[in-house]
Amino acid sequence: MEALRSADEIRDANTRYHDVAAQSYDSKWGIDFGPVGQGQVLGKLSKVLGAELGRGYQRSLEIGAGTGYFTLNLLQAGVVQEATCTDISPGMIRQLADNARRLRLNVRTARADAESLPFPDQTFDIVFGHAVLHHLPNVRRAFAEFHRVLRPGGRIAFAGEPSRAGDRLAALPKRGALTVAPLWRKLIGAGPAPAPGYADVAPARAPAPLQAGSNGASAPKDEGRDLERLVDIHAFAPADLARHARRTGFEEIDVRGEELVANWFGWFNRGLEATADPDQVPMLWRQYAFNGYLVLQRLDERVLEPLLPAALFYNLLLTARKPAPALA
Ligand SMILES: C[S@@+](CC[C@H](N)C(=O)[O-])C[C@H]1O[C@@H](n2cnc3c(N)ncnc32)[C@H](O)[C@@H]1O
Repeated sequence: MEALRSADEIRDANTRYHDVAAQSYDSKWGIDFGPVGQGQVLGKLSKVLGAELGRGYQRSLEIGAGTGYFTLNLLQAGVVQEATCTDISPGMIRQLADNARRLRLNVRTARADAESLPFPDQTFDIVFGHAVLHHLPNVRRAFAEFHRVLRPGGRIAFAGEPSRAGDRLAALPKRGALTVAPLWRKLIGAGPAPAPGYADVAPARAPAPLQAGSNGASAPKDEGRDLERLVDIHAFAPADLARHARRTGFEEIDVRGEELVANWFGWFNRGLEATADPDQVPMLWRQYAFNGYLVLQRLDERVLEPLLPAALFYNLLLTARKPAPALA
């Protein structure tokens, strides 16, 4: 985490880092725009939106939309009708537009900073985002913008935000992976990585793409690693997110946690993989890592999430409503 940077430096680092990451982003994170991806996105949002998700939303705005993981899946699932996607990175916006074209989906895109949205007041029925709030220099100002562009009665929904305690707990499997990595490489017959990989980007989703040989961003590695340190600037306690929403004027605030053992498993495997030559990691291993993650995600969802406090989980989800004027 980097504290002593100006807001402009953080925004600039985010733009450059995500521009570089954009092209290989989907393969790196195993982003899917078919039934699997739709199921993941609906699964996350239903945890905070419940039955309301089924009724859908006419006009949606996504913040930090990246390559379209949330919006393009929600359009296909029929949950949103008229979608607008914003991101600070032109590279991400281009990739999103390519994905939308390929999927024959209509989506409006705009390059925009979350803290200064180029839309009139009360434009949208829902404002949402995935894995974006932790990149924003001034979260409070961004919430004020979400509130401004929402119609009265509209909702915010954010998922995939790193929790402070979850982040600390994730350090254990990362360290464990480094300890056993030499033995693991011997067992699978892989040589060491030519250069350290991008192992430390916040994993807000399934950690192991199934493509053999894919090692995520193809950026010049040193610049990528330097920027990485600048872009992940927050991890939240559930109360932090609730406070931002409350102080901006939202009501019906709900913060939940998701992914615990799935995340430990994911970080452990990603930690191992980052030490190996990606071309020598067998497909069978990648399948094991990916399927194992999905199984543990179900265990988290069905058993641990209803039982344990939100703060323990790796990812936080938040929803809140902009008050509607009372009927006379
Ligand atoms: C971790 S990625 C998540 C992308 C996408 N939501 C997903 O889940 O695949 C974070 C995204 O937030 C964007 N971002 C970072 N800072 C931003 C800002 N100040 N305003 C808007 N978007 C921002 C990045 O460019 C990047 O696309």
